[in-house]
Formats: sequence, structure tokens, C-alpha cells
Amino acid sequence: MKKKLIAGNWKMNGSLEANASLVRSIQGGLDAAQCHIAICVPTPYLAQVKDLIAGGNIELASQDVSAHAYGAYTGEVSAQMLREFGVRYSLVGHSERRQYHGETDATVAIKAQCALAAGITPIVCVGETLEERESGRTEDVVRRQLAAVIHANGHCISEIVVAYEPVWAIGTGRTATPEQAQQVHAVLRAQLQAATVHAERVSILYGGSMNAANAEQLLAQVDIDGGLVGGASLKAQDFLAIIHAAR
Ligand code: 13P
Repeated sequence: MKKKLIAGNWKMNGSLEANASLVRSIQGGLDAAQCHIAICVPTPYLAQVKDLIAGGNIELASQDVSAHAYGAYTGEVSAQMLREFGVRYSLVGHSERRQYHGETDATVAIKAQCALAAGITPIVCVGETLEERESGRTEDVVRRQLAAVIHANGHCISEIVVAYEPVWAIGTGRTATPEQAQQVHAVLRAQLQAATVHAERVSILYGGSMNAANAEQLLAQVDIDGGLVGGASLKAQDFLAIIHAAR
């Protein structure tokens, strides 16, 4: 069985002082890592966190990557720049970027391509809104979102990570049940299997109000290969409990 991946997404939270204390507390609570661990930190803190985690089991991740390689794109950060700071994974297409920054399926697909080209594993986020779920469109939506990335990336698709994050479960305390999550993960797995013979390599994470209490049951589902954790990744004890549930 492949090792699970637990990725913490700090979103726009942190400070030099808070980051140092959080990372030290997480490191202090880790035994021999039973799973892959990553933290997705705000861009200005990449250098700080790179140093803090050096030599340990935690890997560095960014929360976004530019769809351009270089040039006149004020405010953007390229995959190559992220790579220079030791970034191993990058979120792409998080629902907050799709919702507040107008990212389309096509943009997300190009971002995944840029990350792969620089040797960064994109964590491609997909997920339906409450309205889409209630109108029975969940599977169509996540399949459409993933299809764009498969189409743009061809055989490299086996090198990505997928994160299923139902928008209605993000930051709401309302988690998908393990059965609801598994059902969507199975759909995504089947779609990957149709696209590559190496679909088993692709980890499919669940995200959306994952916490110390519900992680074990979610992670026990056959197609849930890890978690993408928001709020609970900002508290060392909660994040560690999720990591321990991923044994
Ligand atoms: P919460 O765990 O706070 O619901 O956030 C999930 C998320 O968006 C992680 O990317």
C-alpha cells in the first residue's frame, strides 16, 4: 500500500514567530514518519519554512503557482522560482482561487503543467459547490475539472496528486461523510485509470473540515490516500493527530 500524504494548507495565516513555533511543535511530536507530510505556506514564508524543516520529514509546498514561466506578470511567482526554494508540491486550482481569483479549468490545467515542468508535484484541487451537489451534479463537476488537467498533461498525469475538496465542507465544520467522500474518490480513480496505466501511483486526498476526530474514518476508505487540511493544520496537536491517524 502506498504511504498516505497529509498536507496542511495554512492559507493566508502565519507570521515569522507563529510559523517557527508551529513547525517546531509539529516536529517535536513526530515519531518516525509513517506518512508523507507537507505544509503549504504563504509565499513570503517559503524561505523561512525551508530552513525550519531542513533535514526533517516535512516537505515544503506552495499554495499556488503561475501559469507563466517568466516575464511581465506582476505579482506572479513561477514554478522555477518555487523550485529554487525547495518547493516539492504546489496546490493548483484550490476552490478559493477558482472562486475569488477567477481561475478556470483551463488555467488550472496550465498551472499543473508548469509545476510538472519544474519538477514540482501539483496537488490539483477539485470539488463541487453545495448547489452543484444538491442538483445532482457532483460527479459531472469533478470529472470536468480533472478532465481539463488530464487533457493538458497527457501521460504525465500519473505524476500529479488530486485533492477532492467539496466547497461546502471547506472551513464550515461540515465534513463529507466517509461514504460520500469515497464515492467521489472512486469516480476520480476510475477517470485516472482510463487516462493512465499508472493511476495507482496517483494519491487522491480528501479536504474539507478534516480534523482529529474524523480523520481516521476518512483515511480508512479504500480510495482516500491522504488529507488536505486547512484549519486543523494551524494547531500542532490537531495536525499531529491527523498525521498519526494516517499510519
Ligand atoms: P478546512 O480544513 O479549514 O475546511 O480547509 C480545507 C481546505 O481548503 C484545505 O485546502
